[in-house]
Amino acid sequence: MRVLGIETSCDETGVALYDSERGLLADALYSQVAMHAEYGGVVPELASRDHVRKLVPLIREVLAKANLTSKDVDGIAYTEGPGLIGALLVGASVARSLAFAWNVPAVGVHHMEGHLLAPMLADDKPDYPYVALLVSGGHTQLFDVQGLGQYQLLGESLDDAAGEAFDKTAKLMGLGYPGGAVLAKKAEAGRAGVYTFPRPMIDRPNCDFSFSGLKTAALLAWQDSDRSEQAIADIAHAFQLAVVETLVKKCQRALKQTGRKRLVIAGGVSANLELRTQLDIMLKKRSGKAYFPPLKYCTDNGAMIAYAGCQRLLRGEQMDLGISARARWPM
Ligand code: KG4
Ligand code: ZN
Repeated sequence: MRVLGIETSCDETGVALYDSERGLLADALYSQVAMHAEYGGVVPELASRDHVRKLVPLIREVLAKANLTSKDVDGIAYTEGPGLIGALLVGASVARSLAFAWNVPAVGVHHMEGHLLAPMLADDKPDYPYVALLVSGGHTQLFDVQGLGQYQLLGESLDDAAGEAFDKTAKLMGLGYPGGAVLAKKAEAGRAGVYTFPRPMIDRPNCDFSFSGLKTAALLAWQDSDRSEQAIADIAHAFQLAVVETLVKKCQRALKQTGRKRLVIAGGVSANLELRTQLDIMLKKRSGKAYFPPLKYCTDNGAMIAYAGCQRLLRGEQMDLGISARARWPM
């Protein structure tokens, strides 16, 4: 089965074609990041309008890259939510209309399920069951994953998501938006021990997180610093260490609680190399294994939606002719 996947939940227009036998056939991504950077955050109305401009050309591009036509598509998957409602509606309308015109089934996919299954796009795929850490700009959650659609929430952030904390800390030091990856890069030149930030909720016997206090600690350190490049690097280093240690400790707790040996890390922050290294070390100590999506599929993309949608369509799921998009949608 060949499935066209469409992602438009935020500021990335992603399209991909996934084949249940042959894997990913082609994909294309257009990022609106440069447009929103000017405003210091995503402007929802501009995001929707840009998805309108880019989506159909990207679909054409993906079909051309795969050397296929619309007749070769057996189903369409799109991100139904959660996300910006206007942006979601663009993907939903295009997906549902094309499915109607091409006479194929359509299925709405949960954006976070897309992230959760993105490691299946790697050569080394995890078997079920596993614990999954979802760390993106909007979510920080730990799940026990027993199979497709069987996700039990073990814990989550009570305030800011990890990516959001990265972005806010980067922004206050003038590193632009979204600055998570830039901050991680700056941390490489940081000296250990110059600053020490709190590890919020690390000793609480649960799998919940809190990152808003950490951002405040970084702000106070920044205000007291000489605001040099070295100060940025030192603060970035201490900040990243605190986030990574907190995430690793909570993953350890989730693995212990569930008895699982496999850990999947997905979402934009799973691109963080320090987090990858520390989780690998922790899993090796426990004789387990950490699985990551290919770097390219850590952040928002159409491939993860095509994959997740393909699994659901193969199970016979599909939606009626209505167009459905949900800004909020618990998984
Ligand atoms: O999954 P994603 O693309 O979008 C959401 O669904 O939120 O994640 C984006 C988030 C942003 O907060 C971004 O700063 C963060 O992932 N991010 C990183 C890195 N690369 C992206 N955070 C830390 N280190 C990175 N290398
Ligand atoms: Zn995402």
